[in-house]
Amino acid sequence: MQLIIKTMEGFEEVLAKELEDLQLLNIQILKRAVSCEGNWAQLYKCNYMLRTALRVLLPVKSASIETQEDLYDLVKSVSWAPYIAEGKTFSINGTISGELFNHSQFAIYRTKDAIVDQLTEKYGTRPSIDTRNSDVLIDLHISNNEVNISLDSSGRSLHLRNYKYRQYKAPLNEVLAAGIIKLSGWEQTKAFHDPMSGSGTFITEALMIASNIPPGMFNNNFAFTKWEEFYPDIWNMVKETADSNIHFPEIELSASDINPLAVRDTKKNLQKFPFKEKVQIYNRDFFTIPGEADKILFMNPPYNKRIEVDNIYAYYKNIGDTLKTRWQGSEAWIVSGNAEAIKNLGLQTSKRIALNHGGTDVKLYKYEIYDGSKKAKYQ
Ligand SMILES: C[S@@+](CC[C@H](N)C(=O)[O-])C[C@H]1O[C@@H](n2cnc3c(N)ncnc32)[C@H](O)[C@@H]1O
Repeated sequence: MQLIIKTMEGFEEVLAKELEDLQLLNIQILKRAVSCEGNWAQLYKCNYMLRTALRVLLPVKSASIETQEDLYDLVKSVSWAPYIAEGKTFSINGTISGELFNHSQFAIYRTKDAIVDQLTEKYGTRPSIDTRNSDVLIDLHISNNEVNISLDSSGRSLHLRNYKYRQYKAPLNEVLAAGIIKLSGWEQTKAFHDPMSGSGTFITEALMIASNIPPGMFNNNFAFTKWEEFYPDIWNMVKETADSNIHFPEIELSASDINPLAVRDTKKNLQKFPFKEKVQIYNRDFFTIPGEADKILFMNPPYNKRIEVDNIYAYYKNIGDTLKTRWQGSEAWIVSGNAEAIKNLGLQTSKRIALNHGGTDVKLYKYEIYDGSKKAKYQ
């Protein structure tokens, strides 16, 4: 069966690689999504094991339409009873763009009307809509005249991994953090450090990657478990196999933050993970701590959007000076939404990747910090 896996901008290739590793077939990169073919076990694996997936969709109908009324007819042409049994609730998530529908909500209403009308005729009672905790979640995607209707097998977005008890200021999305670590190509040969850890998204995702902990381990709300066609034995086998591959993380993992409340939140968020004792967490100021060679740093410094800094240019210059003077021989990956401030680092970037964080354009910058002699040789 065909699957469409949604992701965030910039992670399509990384997701395609993850799908290759899970042996999905016919993998094709789309915009903020990847299409592939797989079986039930792979659909469950995708939900449980993909680090850069937001949702796993099972397409039920795709077509081109000319008028708004065509949408109603198209939705009604699908037989909904095998998906929505009598007495079950449903809801619709819509992503609507193009000129056919001025109001997304109207497209969602017409889709809902078509399903309700069909099922009322069949069951003699109206099915209920439950926007908070429906049994079946339908994904409606309209781009200009192209309509794709799918079942959403994930339910809640998969970035909600259910480990964040506390969120210090401006936390990263879990898929963004995992995707950045994957994009960096970290092979777990260099010790991992986040010197501005906030509530600890980078370090938690790093621990999960380093010890093969499935990202869905604490998610007990997958939508496919409520489907009419659900195979509990296959699902249990998928979980057991994935969990049996969890192992002790060999590489050093550490995080620090200047704010003790952030340190408390990082510790709290790590509390239910195996091997959490392997992660070193400190209350430290990045500008004063001694640096180290041969580390890989992942940093998400404030960029005057959700967290303000007195003089953002001086602050970024300070980050650059600290890296240059204390972290020679290490590598730094910085995610920031302030392209002007980042110029003040005074370091040459060796990679720049456009990403998006909750509607804000951000970039990921890579810096290789050479000591003087290596720098001269490199140049
Ligand atoms: C945008 S938040 C990081 C959010 C984090 N990536 C997460 O997912 O929760 C920036 C963090 O940098 C910390 N910070 C700012 N200046 C710092 C410094 N000089 N040394 C250490 N941490 C600092 C702040 O306390 C804040 O927690």
